[in-house]
Amino acid sequence: MTSQKVFNFSAGPAMMPSEVMHGVQNEFLNWRGLGVSVAEISHRSQYFLDIAAQSKNQLRELLNIPENYHILFLPGGARTQFASVPMNLMGDYQQAAYVQTGYWGYVAQTEASRYLSINTIVNAEHNHYTHIPDQKTWADFSDCAYLHYVDNETIHGVEFDFIPSAQNVPLVCDMSSNLLSRPFDVSKYGLIYASSQKNVAISGITIVIIRDDLLQRKPHAALPSIMNYALQVKHDSMWNTPPTFEWYFADQVFQWIKKQGGLSVMAKHNADKAKKIYDYLDSQSFYQNKINKQHRSRMNVIFHLPTPELDAAFVKQAQENHLFGLKGHKILGGIRASIYNAMPMEGVDQLIAFMKQFALLNIP
Ligand SMILES: Cc1ncc(COP(=O)(O)O)c(C=O)c1O
Repeated sequence: MTSQKVFNFSAGPAMMPSEVMHGVQNEFLNWRGLGVSVAEISHRSQYFLDIAAQSKNQLRELLNIPENYHILFLPGGARTQFASVPMNLMGDYQQAAYVQTGYWGYVAQTEASRYLSINTIVNAEHNHYTHIPDQKTWADFSDCAYLHYVDNETIHGVEFDFIPSAQNVPLVCDMSSNLLSRPFDVSKYGLIYASSQKNVAISGITIVIIRDDLLQRKPHAALPSIMNYALQVKHDSMWNTPPTFEWYFADQVFQWIKKQGGLSVMAKHNADKAKKIYDYLDSQSFYQNKINKQHRSRMNVIFHLPTPELDAAFVKQAQENHLFGLKGHKILGGIRASIYNAMPMEGVDQLIAFMKQFALLNIP
């Protein structure tokens, strides 16, 4: 057990803002003086309906979501959306277009391929997912049901620095690891989804933002009701008992972001943190990050040490120094420092200080 402050660099479930954690703890057993926990009240009660309505309004305000978009809070994580998207949006189309700039883009299309044919219009595997090919080089997708991409590849540490132009094809985006990290133009999208466990809340709830006209598309005949967007819109995301505690938690996080000054403040905070780490990485040669500078993730900073043994020693000693969760994903190895909204600059400073010290002692 440690009593010293620990900075948590886990990729997700990830660090939550300490102010939110304390607030939730303070009112956990006795919510609003009712003598019961928010985790114990009915989702049909006016108390919870107020939380649901407030969270939706706050998210609309934070992201400036136009009125012709619906906001859903659903169970099942982003992986459920990998199936929900094709099943709901296929209509009479034969194929959907997928952009593959990392692991999650690959997994999303593999799941979708169970329901319609996939046109991988760009695949960055050939460059080991180190950069995002210019849109001018992407194949044609004009006859596709939608164009899907992953804005931030959480494992490969690659993030889009532009919104793809999709013309008349609905643009669909997995923003699981960077939603709420910066402002962007929602009106460019047909559908956006994100699981919660990075910048939104604890794990267990998924945000879906969908443009109204897409609800008219004829879904797959076997679409389960729980995954049916039109039905969930009609039932205000309560076709089944929703993950109420996670929903309440998200509402607390939205309030916290608003209190910090909104998404432009978050964006600056995140850019400053990322710049500090990348500037350090670029200033030395012990730690290696091979991602094209333009596409380096502001959320997940990945790097390798000279050997896997040194990677392991780094993770172990970092934890002994109160820096938690730095082990890279198993398919890539190395180190991953996830620095979502909740990570303060102090955590980044301590990580860099540790990196300098570790390098000094271990340079071959
Ligand atoms: C970008 C991205 N998409 C999808 C997923 C899968 O999310 P879930 O485990 O909530 O289904 C993750 C998980 O970390 C992710 O980072």
